[in-house]
Amino acid sequence: MCGIIGYTGPRKTTSVLLEGLRRLEYRGYDSAGIAVGGGDYGGRPLGIVKQVGKIAALKAAMPADLEGSWGIGHTRWATHGGVTQANAHPHTGGAGKIAVVHNGIIENHHALKSMLEKKGYAFVSETDSEVIPHLIAEYYKGDLLEAVVAAIQNLEGTYGIAVVHADEPGRIVGARNGSPLVVGVGAGEMFLASDVTAMVAYTDKVVYLNDGEIVDIRRDHYDILDREERKVDKRVDQITWELGSIEKGEFTCHMEKEIFEQPESIARALSGRLDLENATAKLGGLNLERRRLSSIGRVKVIAAGTSWHAGLVGSQLLEQVARIPAQSEMASEVRYRNPVVEKDSLWFTVSQSGETADSLYAMREIQRKGATVLGICNVVGSTIARESDGGIYVHSGPEIAVASTKAFTSQLAAFYLFTLLMARMRDMSREEGLKFLAELQAVPAMVGEVLKRRDLIQTIAKKYCGAKDFLFLGRGMLYPIALEGALKLKEISYIHAEGCSAGEMKHGPIALVSPEVPSVFLVSDDYLRAKTISNMREIKARGGPIIAVGVEGDAEAAALADDFIPVPKADPRFYPFSMIVPLQLLAYFCAVELGRDVDQPRNLAKSVTVE
Ligand code: F6R
Repeated sequence: MCGIIGYTGPRKTTSVLLEGLRRLEYRGYDSAGIAVGGGDYGGRPLGIVKQVGKIAALKAAMPADLEGSWGIGHTRWATHGGVTQANAHPHTGGAGKIAVVHNGIIENHHALKSMLEKKGYAFVSETDSEVIPHLIAEYYKGDLLEAVVAAIQNLEGTYGIAVVHADEPGRIVGARNGSPLVVGVGAGEMFLASDVTAMVAYTDKVVYLNDGEIVDIRRDHYDILDREERKVDKRVDQITWELGSIEKGEFTCHMEKEIFEQPESIARALSGRLDLENATAKLGGLNLERRRLSSIGRVKVIAAGTSWHAGLVGSQLLEQVARIPAQSEMASEVRYRNPVVEKDSLWFTVSQSGETADSLYAMREIQRKGATVLGICNVVGSTIARESDGGIYVHSGPEIAVASTKAFTSQLAAFYLFTLLMARMRDMSREEGLKFLAELQAVPAMVGEVLKRRDLIQTIAKKYCGAKDFLFLGRGMLYPIALEGALKLKEISYIHAEGCSAGEMKHGPIALVSPEVPSVFLVSDDYLRAKTISNMREIKARGGPIIAVGVEGDAEAAALADDFIPVPKADPRFYPFSMIVPLQLLAYFCAVELGRDVDQPRNLAKSVTVE
């Protein structure tokens, strides 16, 4: 949420900043801006350009000759203050010599603003962020680091900031409290960004900052200080992503690429973790001894959005297969309701980005109460991954589209592996374990088969994309898939959609059914199939059009539906993997038909780092 990039070095600074912002655009894209130093800016101390809209609009607004030898940039997702040029970052202070980009929320900005106004500082924006450059100006005595250290003592709330001063060429000071910042280490050049995506084209060496840390960067070295202003020595991590993994390649957008990548991304999540000899899973990152694992009495999952839906599937699976009571809850609710943490409980935080504020703060609250919390994350080195007590990386590779797809199926894979591990420590026999493993190994190919239905799903999307409302209905482990299908459609096509338990439909949502409201049914071939078929008949009797995702050869479901999308027959416990894919594609094709911006839907941002 909001992207930050800073650069100091010999390259063309403007190009590095704009390129970094382009890669960060998925974090927020309502306005953007840069500040560079070291050039001639017509009497102004720094060269600053800001523009409402996407990075392309900022690029178009750039004077051709604007260059500098160091600078900072920002792409915004508005929290305080509307989407205007004045509210876009960087914000300035100290007669235009200080420029700041900020990610997060300064909760005491009203008090700080009135204090600063009394001292004569003039504000030009409606943002909370603008107090920061004025505070830094207030403390500035010729050393930017000292001024930033003093200024942040006054801030309440969350921030990741990057700051430059026109009189201190080549220097960037950053500080982190609740919003991620990463230092990129190059040879004779340095970067500072809110995530590694912004600098992966230039360096693969990064240092993740922790909350309370401040970094002082020059082109050939950096110092990191802790809250007590002591220098800290931190490990330099190596990024293993390749640049190609964040490019669209032959696809028209990242979401399409990420949907079609799922056979490989799921295979990566499983890779090296299938123990065929012992018919179980190997999960080295859990950091839990066998005895501790076998004493777990219940599992709790906290997450947001799509990751929460993965947790809902995972909890049902754990109960069904490993016979462990399990529950998945929205992190935003857990944090504030003083949850009971039982001694024998094991908690998971699921998060693609590993930075979601709701999930992170809920995790910290649970840890404070003594719980062990494992992370299921995609982004290596992210805050949740680092602060959790262990966990499972899902290895989906960078997910750039705002709507999450491949991370979801990899999160499912992590739950299936953990379930197998737990089940084998309990009642599951070796034979059952081997069967479960074989089904898991078959998932990538099964997903590959469903992707071949692309044209059929595109035709269905064309037929229904004019609808104003959709219902998504499923039971058991397919209920969370209905929620996820509805979320995908809402997010990228802006069509209103509700995900419901098919059984619950008659208790209210059925009132919405009409010839104008399509219902998307998920039809398994397990013990719940007959019930779901009855629910389809109830909709049919009321004139509602039906799209059914069902098992190949299910003639009854196919005949009842107006449109039928078959998935390969499998062990019903594995249908969440195959049945979500047609829903991802349905949302994608509806959005394309309606001319939406698929990768960057309105009002949303990837990685929601504010509460
Ligand atoms: C949906 C989506 C969001 C995220 C949610 C949690 O497509 O992307 O609902 O799933 O914001 O994000 P992470 O998983 O990064 O914690």
